[in-house]
Amino acid sequence: MAILWDQKNKVFSLNTKNTTYQMKIDKFGFLLHTYYGEKINNDASYLIVNQDRGFSGNPYDAENDRTYSLDVLPQEYPFYGSGDYRTTAFDVIDSNNTSGCDLRFESYEIIQGKYALSGLPASYSENNKAMTLVVNLIDNRLNLKVQLYYGVFEDEDVITRAAKIINNSDKTITLSKALTANLDFLTGDFDLIHFHGRHAGERTMERTHIEHGSFSIGSRRGTSSHQHNPFVILAERDTTEHFGNCFGMSFVYSGNFECTAEKDQYGQTRIAMGVLSERFNYALEPNESFLAPEVIMIHSNSGFESLSHKYHNIIRHNICRGEYKLKRRPILINNWEATYFDFDGEKLFNIAKQASELGVEMMVLDDGWFGSRDDDNQALGDWWVNEKKLQGTLKEVSERICSLGMKFGLWIEPEMVNENSDLYRNHPDWAFVIPNKKPIRSRNQLVLDFSRKEVVDYICESIFKVIDDAKISYIKMDMNRSISDVYSAVKGNPSEGKILYHYMLGVYDFMERLLTRYPNLLLEGCSGGGGRFDAGMMYYSPQIWCSDNTDAISRLHIQYGTSFGYPISTVGSHVSTVPNHQTGRVVDFNTRGIVAMAGSFGYELDLNLISDDEKEEVKKQIEDYKKYWHLLHNGKYYRLTNCEEDNQKTAWQFVSEDKSEALVQVVKCDTHCNAPAEYIKLRGLDADVAYELDGNLYYGSTLMNAGLPVDAMNGEYKAYKIHLVAKR
Ligand code: GLA
Repeated sequence: MAILWDQKNKVFSLNTKNTTYQMKIDKFGFLLHTYYGEKINNDASYLIVNQDRGFSGNPYDAENDRTYSLDVLPQEYPFYGSGDYRTTAFDVIDSNNTSGCDLRFESYEIIQGKYALSGLPASYSENNKAMTLVVNLIDNRLNLKVQLYYGVFEDEDVITRAAKIINNSDKTITLSKALTANLDFLTGDFDLIHFHGRHAGERTMERTHIEHGSFSIGSRRGTSSHQHNPFVILAERDTTEHFGNCFGMSFVYSGNFECTAEKDQYGQTRIAMGVLSERFNYALEPNESFLAPEVIMIHSNSGFESLSHKYHNIIRHNICRGEYKLKRRPILINNWEATYFDFDGEKLFNIAKQASELGVEMMVLDDGWFGSRDDDNQALGDWWVNEKKLQGTLKEVSERICSLGMKFGLWIEPEMVNENSDLYRNHPDWAFVIPNKKPIRSRNQLVLDFSRKEVVDYICESIFKVIDDAKISYIKMDMNRSISDVYSAVKGNPSEGKILYHYMLGVYDFMERLLTRYPNLLLEGCSGGGGRFDAGMMYYSPQIWCSDNTDAISRLHIQYGTSFGYPISTVGSHVSTVPNHQTGRVVDFNTRGIVAMAGSFGYELDLNLISDDEKEEVKKQIEDYKKYWHLLHNGKYYRLTNCEEDNQKTAWQFVSEDKSEALVQVVKCDTHCNAPAEYIKLRGLDADVAYELDGNLYYGSTLMNAGLPVDAMNGEYKAYKIHLVAKR
């Protein structure tokens, strides 16, 4: 049984194949966290040692027992007001402007199947095998209920958490903080692995030791952001790629968030994740509720590699949806870096024609096809086709491209508006602008108030009309600025946190309506590249443009960092021209192809402008991508080198589920005269099986323990791949 309730000791054990997550209702009704880690069989509450802790308060119920303090005890959902002075997960302000609550256990429910969160993305269990535990906590004074949701995916080794806060009183209660998940560890010396970055340099892995005090990452940009990804790993200090204990937390949400890790006065570690509490102040009216979005938690006792495999699996199978969830996606060509805004119907057709002759399967028309959008200063919001520029209707353009045997895709940026647009002129109050304050502009655009239904309705209507009128198989949905000047021109202007939460619900609603209306559509996410690369978006878009930086060498770092929490199938990755438009670097065609293939593959250049030899390479790359797709997207992905530490080479490997086949890709990042030999050790093979390579047979044990020498290729940024097939 995945969920066990020990009535006598009042202990809930959530068991997956390899892990146990445990909590206990203590004698006063507080919900304590007793264990998370490798599978165990006991009630672990014996580990809790109570001592008199000076200046740590004692709940009234403890009477004269000074050894009982929530300032020290491990908890499931620590709240302000309990005498716990650490980072708490929950805090309220009542109608008398008073902070502090008192949450006690009320009841529980165990349900077959996985909970869903209305309006929010969340993991799902197709076969209903997953289970749900709901623990109800109640504050009797405030008449406030907190429902803690736990999802247990037994085979996948996944525990999910979410929470619902319900105001059952007749007064407004303001949530000043309502995070989703908290983990308390009695022992352990931890590092936090987090993925920071910037536009065109997303998800760089960084490892920070958690010292006394707290360390936080998060986003106040309205999106999950390029700067800090909402996926972290709390790892014991000796944890490596293949060894040691680590705990992942992935937020299934695409807006503002926070994640804080804290080492307390006794060296205990707490980590909490949820919606950003700064400027949150979510007013909960009588009978209203707030849903704290899901956090997916995974534990591994054998390092990052196995943690990543489990995240890849759950996101690919239980977050991503739709026709293209497991299907090979069309190899596409996108005109952005080929033309930017400077195109017409003929130019697009010529790009598509050459691409289709080389085997490309879909043409994506990027920014610039609508309104008076000839540069990035105008027309966002005017979702009508610029037929003059396209030299025809979008139906004609798309049908002409489809007549080449290709599919057709279109770029949109629904959440945005330019001041120079008909939409803004007609509805200036639909954009986030604070009355009597000049707004902050970014890329010269403003953000539409997607917390308002009429705004989302209008955008749906205008974009759906465009899609209805043409032959469209794919939408690239972009979002090209951070949010500021949050003011909603609705009665009572709610708090910034409330508006931005409902803004995200509006964005999710837009995508849900889009996918319901066009069930076969492939939706690609994008936010200036990878500024909204999170598990929340993946519920709608099974692939996300990983970065606006298409330089293959920069991509090694970005894709390496991305691989810790997200499957390769979600990584949008294209071959672009050289010198690269973002870095000016020149990398040969083969290397660009190999790096782009570790993702959802495509091209982003005018293939008319490359040499005949390169055209032959395109054909070969497309052939290879089709040949190896089952490994690239369905195989297990192994990081063979640490991209942040090894500046000589980067290597990675895909292995089929049955270990009968593997693909290794290697990129040389530096070149030397008279250089020492270098080696890579393969992973995930069958030790006792021989694999064929260049006519020779090598046992899996040899390849994994002794390794292979790296080809000594002359010249910078060379790359190669090895395909291994088992000879059983
Ligand atoms: C963003 C995207 C790019 C491109 C441009 C268009 O920067 O990440 O791929 O679509 O917008 O304006």
